[in-house]
Amino acid sequence: MKVTIVGAGNVGATCADVLAYKEVSNEIILVDIKEGLSEGKSLDIFQKSPINLYDTKTIGSTNNYNLTKDSDVVVITSGLPRKPGMSRDDLIDTNSKIVKSVTENIVKYSPNCILIIVSNPLDVMTYQAHITSKFPRERIMGMAGILDTARYRAFISDELNVSTKDIQALLLGGHGDTMVPLPRYTTVAGIPVTELIKEKKLFDIIERTKFGGGELVKLMGTSAWYAPGAAAAQMVEAIIKNQKRIFPVCVKLEGEYNIDDCYLGVPVILGQNGIEKVIELDLNTDEVKLLEESRKHVKEVMGILENLK
Ligand code: NAI
Ligand code: 2OP
Repeated sequence: MKVTIVGAGNVGATCADVLAYKEVSNEIILVDIKEGLSEGKSLDIFQKSPINLYDTKTIGSTNNYNLTKDSDVVVITSGLPRKPGMSRDDLIDTNSKIVKSVTENIVKYSPNCILIIVSNPLDVMTYQAHITSKFPRERIMGMAGILDTARYRAFISDELNVSTKDIQALLLGGHGDTMVPLPRYTTVAGIPVTELIKEKKLFDIIERTKFGGGELVKLMGTSAWYAPGAAAAQMVEAIIKNQKRIFPVCVKLEGEYNIDDCYLGVPVILGQNGIEKVIELDLNTDEVKLLEESRKHVKEVMGILENLK
């Protein structure tokens, strides 16, 4: 199986490293526009293989898409990350142009691949890649929900002083401040989280999760990469190994949740065909309201993209 990752920056290189270490595919092509960057990072990951014991081949390419030919899965991480004070939406102008040109190249060489978008603003960049690629919704999706849910799970485990492995949780909606964490679908080794954490504390954890990306931007001057790279790798693994995992993924809704023609995070089954099923939850009135706010926000940013054209 062949995986291409476009953007050999922080997130792309981390994703390649995780995939190589886990031997998810035997060949990984890392592409970047910056001369030598992807070649250097690929060589570095290869030179780690005698230490960490894996056989995956990592090959770098400075904008030569010939090497990406017939990829099974492609992850697009190319684009600017945000700086302190910026929102993800501030990146739309530059990143939409990058995502468009990268997608054109990918489609030319791998018309049957499954595309995973990571570049921000996530939901709208996934929409951009959809417009450019014209791929069916099964084969085009965005990574955000796994990351946002991981942050939420990490904060819960910290509060309870238990292993993160035992926290199961779910978030819906766009990748931004309007994301919708769902305490009703959050358990700790099967125990509803609401029995273990008081309402006020849980509210604080949810708020911290919503602004979890911004917290890291403030600390580091750029956005996160370890958890985002690993989250994208987890999606690639589910597809390549046909694992049928259930993850929150940004996908085009076609009537589910009474929402049409909008990219939003919802639980899906991920397998060898990409999005194998969109899972519809029976949301209560408050949850529906929150999801609607998130939809409105994403639609507004989709409108900005339309106006840029
Ligand atoms: P980075 O700056 O470290 O890497 C981006 C790379 O893209 C650079 O190496 C750059 O040379 C490359 N690039 C730019 N234009 C290109 C083109 N036309 N073709 C090929 N490569 C090109 O940034 P980082 O931290 O890796 O973040 C990448 C993107 O992912 C950002 O937009 C960021 O906001 C987003 N992100 C999304 C997350 C999510 O949950 N969806 C989480 C973390 C980051
Ligand atoms: C994050 O949430 C910036 O979207 C990126 O870390």
